[in-house]
Amino acid sequence: MAYRRLSDGDGHAPLFTGWSARYGSGMTRLRLLTAGESHGRQLTTVLEGCPAGLAVSATRIDEDLRRRQGGYGRGARQTIESDHVEIVGGVRYGRATGAPIALTVANRDAGNWGDVLAVEAPTDAGSRAEPVRVPRPGHADLGGALLYDLDDIRDVIERASARETAARVAGGAVAKLLLETVGCRVVSHVVAVGAERAAAAPLRLDDVARVEADPLRCADAAASARMRAAVDAAQEAGDTLGGVVEVLAFGYPPGVGSYVQGDRRLESVLAAAVFTVPAIKGVEFGLGFAAAGLPGSAVHDALAHDAALGYVRRTNNAGGIEGGISTGDTIIVHAAMKPIATLRNPLRSVEMGTHRAVESRFERADVCAVPAAGVVLEAVLALALADAALARFGGATVVELGAAVDAYRARCLRR
Ligand SMILES: Cc1cc2nc3c(=O)[nH]c(=O)nc-3n(C[C@H](O)[C@H](O)[C@H](O)COP(=O)(O)O)c2cc1C
Repeated sequence: MAYRRLSDGDGHAPLFTGWSARYGSGMTRLRLLTAGESHGRQLTTVLEGCPAGLAVSATRIDEDLRRRQGGYGRGARQTIESDHVEIVGGVRYGRATGAPIALTVANRDAGNWGDVLAVEAPTDAGSRAEPVRVPRPGHADLGGALLYDLDDIRDVIERASARETAARVAGGAVAKLLLETVGCRVVSHVVAVGAERAAAAPLRLDDVARVEADPLRCADAAASARMRAAVDAAQEAGDTLGGVVEVLAFGYPPGVGSYVQGDRRLESVLAAAVFTVPAIKGVEFGLGFAAAGLPGSAVHDALAHDAALGYVRRTNNAGGIEGGISTGDTIIVHAAMKPIATLRNPLRSVEMGTHRAVESRFERADVCAVPAAGVVLEAVLALALADAALARFGGATVVELGAAVDAYRARCLRR
């Protein structure tokens, strides 16, 4: 990578050109790509930019894969699949080497789909799978078939499926491990399913074990029971439900993000990450939409100074971000998930080609996937938070990253 030293000895810090100004050297950008089809042989994740020295454990990744598969209201597929990661690159003797980390998750159902998803075209045209021609409303089916000029919607279904989120949960689990090295923990809980809402009580880290033990990953046991009844009623009616998840990042370092350009604002980075998750249609930070209906005196977090802690806010209505910069308080994000679009009582659709009015097809589907979406949201937010922290503090190794975060915290205390 060519770079030019712009100012040497003229009293200014050296400037470099020739690579991304936003992220500095390529070493400090965390990038994730996934590949694979819903019923293909496997999902593949490549996570590049992970600092060397991070302890990476398949057990920890599997734990998040298991959490993604759970939750009241999920469909039959979760009983077929029992996801397990294989680490196939970038980790040696339990530690990240700095090379891209490659992960695979096998699709255990793939054996039943070999002919449908064969890589090679069958020599005998008669053994091709029957093409799917009826797009499901509320899915990528119609838009994807038109975009890629496809005769068979199967190509869209296979890649647009939320099965892909398992690959991101695997990569996100590594990002969580990285964040833990700087004292940050990313967790989530379900705060609404359909019309049922949990009591609004701030979640503490002590509550997490209770959340994980709840079938809907909800901290309010009474609300969870009402939510489960709502899921049962929707299932009986051939319908589906969405909901709201709260994701919290405890202990995220202060000073990440910036106000100097809109795309550096931490909310803009995190909102984009939230919207990488299928079916997510709304996002809030801190008080979010509720702040719009309150007077300023009830919204803004007053400042104070504490000899041991430095500058503090006694409340956290801002959700851990002010002026696009992390404050050091818990980052609080709400994400709204629409109800699952695949209904047992089918919606109206149109057969592509013939334009005949038909009923939508029913593919095996969840009635409610809000608890699982919470685990996916943890993953995508952990990836974005880790990427932003690396962009801010740098570090080819976890030790360097930790030292830079500690130095910034110490600098803030001295002001
Ligand atoms: C964890 C998770 C599980 C999902 N499960 C299903 C499902 O079983 N059936 C379904 O129709 N949609 C499911 N979805 C939602 C679809 O993937 C999504 O609505 C669809 O791809 C269209 O994208 P859009 O809603 O963002 O427009 C799930 C989403 C997530 C995050």
